[in-house]
Amino acid sequence: MSEFPRILAHRGASSLAPENTMAAFVKAMEVGAHWIEFDVDIMGDGTLLVMHDHTLDRTTSGRGGYYDKGFSDLRKLDAGAWFSDVYRFEPVPEAADVLEFLNATGMHGNLEIKPCLGGEELRERVIETLVHSVDVLTDQDNFLVSSFDHDLLARFGAERPDIDLAWLVDPDDPEHGEWRPGATALGCRAINPGDEGLTEATVAQMLEAGFEVNVWTVDSVARARELAGWGVTGIFTNRPQDFPESALIR
Ligand code: G3P
Ligand code: MG
Repeated sequence: MSEFPRILAHRGASSLAPENTMAAFVKAMEVGAHWIEFDVDIMGDGTLLVMHDHTLDRTTSGRGGYYDKGFSDLRKLDAGAWFSDVYRFEPVPEAADVLEFLNATGMHGNLEIKPCLGGEELRERVIETLVHSVDVLTDQDNFLVSSFDHDLLARFGAERPDIDLAWLVDPDDPEHGEWRPGATALGCRAINPGDEGLTEATVAQMLEAGFEVNVWTVDSVARARELAGWGVTGIFTNRPQDFPESALIR
């Protein structure tokens, strides 16, 4: 057994550069990571943006939600100044930018579809658009699509059975223990559980059921080592720079 699980840079190397920006993804590559995780949602005009929150306030110069905004608004946003002056004018990427980055660099990716709260029309559109966007990927074997929104995950999986899915488990969801039937029905490759409250017994059940297990978000090297001992496949971390090269190359 390896000392560490696979290391996935969470929102890029998000302790070194502003999360979910190209700067953070490039930084992940620079520190030797081979996997990045990134969050995707949709704007009112169908633009797929890379962003964690449902509002622009925390990580950009913009205000409010984005379901009533579009590409021209996106171009005006500064997604770096909140993090550091060094990253002023860093743009919010589109999903296509990150997919091209994966192709250009040979990096591997976990695309997380954020629960889309923009209404049924946008929920349909985010899947329709993503299904085509991922066509550009040259290495579909080292690519995962995950979501807490299991309905969206199912819709994506139905359209693209050739792409591996990961069932995200939120420890705050009262039904978080019910991963087995849904993940099995969707033929998921992996379960991605939160670290909070996660037990060795639960990990063992997931592994025994045939799933890979990728735990988020683990910023402690000691905890990563412990999880490796439990047999987990990967961890999402904001601090890939803390891990040895041997762990990062997998
Ligand atoms: O995909 C793992 C992790 O990113 C899920 O939680 O809220 O950071 O997107 P969140
Ligand atoms: Mg995420």
